[in-house]
Amino acid sequence: MPAPTFPSPPRELLAARVQDPYPYFAWLRRHAPAHADRRAGRPTVWQISRHDDVRALLTDGRLSKDPDRVPGYVPGPTGLNRHMVHADPPDHTRLRSLVNAAFVPRRIAQLEPVVTETAHQLLDRVEQSSHVDVIADFAAPLTFRMICAILGVPQELDNPATRDTLMATIAPEPGLDPARTEADLHTLLDTLITSKRTTGEHSAVDLLGALVRAGDDSGAMSEEELRSTAYLLLLVGHDTTMNLIGNGTLALLRNPAQAAVLAAPSAGPGVVSTAVEELLRYDSPVRDATFRCAAEPIQLHGQQIDEGDIVSLLIGSANRDQARFPDPDRLDLARTPNDHLAFGYGPHFCIGAALARLEGSAALPLLLQRLGPVQLAKPAAELPWRPTRVMRGLAALPVVRT
Ligand code: HEM
Repeated sequence: MPAPTFPSPPRELLAARVQDPYPYFAWLRRHAPAHADRRAGRPTVWQISRHDDVRALLTDGRLSKDPDRVPGYVPGPTGLNRHMVHADPPDHTRLRSLVNAAFVPRRIAQLEPVVTETAHQLLDRVEQSSHVDVIADFAAPLTFRMICAILGVPQELDNPATRDTLMATIAPEPGLDPARTEADLHTLLDTLITSKRTTGEHSAVDLLGALVRAGDDSGAMSEEELRSTAYLLLLVGHDTTMNLIGNGTLALLRNPAQAAVLAAPSAGPGVVSTAVEELLRYDSPVRDATFRCAAEPIQLHGQQIDEGDIVSLLIGSANRDQARFPDPDRLDLARTPNDHLAFGYGPHFCIGAALARLEGSAALPLLLQRLGPVQLAKPAAELPWRPTRVMRGLAALPVVRT
């Protein structure tokens, strides 16, 4: 039987994708569940949009996470791609096990007072302001402070300039020279790693110090792996949870009756954690899974994915699949079961899930309570979404007290 030919996606849905990917995802799930994006001179990229397929492929050994299999393809900044996200076993297992202990739920639970205190401090600063940017004033500094505390980043580097340097590597400002962005990032990593080698511990957890020692004392990781891992953790430890708070707050502002339930002092931990799972599903902070490519040919929906093709697993689409979630485009903070894939699935399942859940559960109710009645400062359709490869997050979320 000849392979079915899927139609091409409508241009208007493609064009609106950064602002609102969900109509495009719904079209893909319905009309082209394995969609090939072929462009001259570039590797073919397959977009996989249905929940069952995404979940199955997240654990499929025929997919590799090693970018060296795709000639000429560099997924991130030069010299910083040797970390667990871009590795298969045995390197993946080794690199992941070196950081895993710092993120286990028992260790993360001890950070609860730090999250709550930091959130209060940030909200104190905007107590009197009529205008608040939920990203710049709250979500960005809170989430960066937390990953800095775990890594043991010296206090003087916990600032907006450091965050801008990191974010510029995935969402460059127009007009910014990419070579300059990379140079700034390498300078930052030099400063950070040198500080660990010269002055020792900077925080109780000090994961980065432990990694430096593991590399220097027993060769557990190379210098390139160390630098890549430091970059990875600083970036994803910050950007993802910032997006959870930003996307989550936006969803709540657009659903005030549900926001009121979450903000109520009577909302217990069960209500809050169920709500956070739904916010993770509804507007997933990691929209697409990270790099994967076919290590051998794969047949899917009558299409052939060739060896060396890139396979993009659309998590944000899987989490809106009507075949898995009743009424998937409706925010339902009490939704159970909620079999979302927001943290991935299988061997690369998010190492920071407990931290993200802690930050979401502690910060979101507090933010709603202390902001009081607010509304968006501009129409939702005009909010600035960052045009990044895998993440979905706002560059700003301006609100006005009413
Ligand atoms: C709401 C927040 C977060 C979301 C939605 C999220 C989502 C994800 C997803 C979907 C993956 C799997 C990617 C794939 O298989 O391609 C992943 C992996 C990962 N996440 Fe998160 N993440 C969040 C927060 C964090 C935090 C706070 C950290 C802290 C450092 C973190 C560290 C990691 C790491 C290191 C991996 C790679 C694991 C591996 O390759 O074995 N994440 N995350």
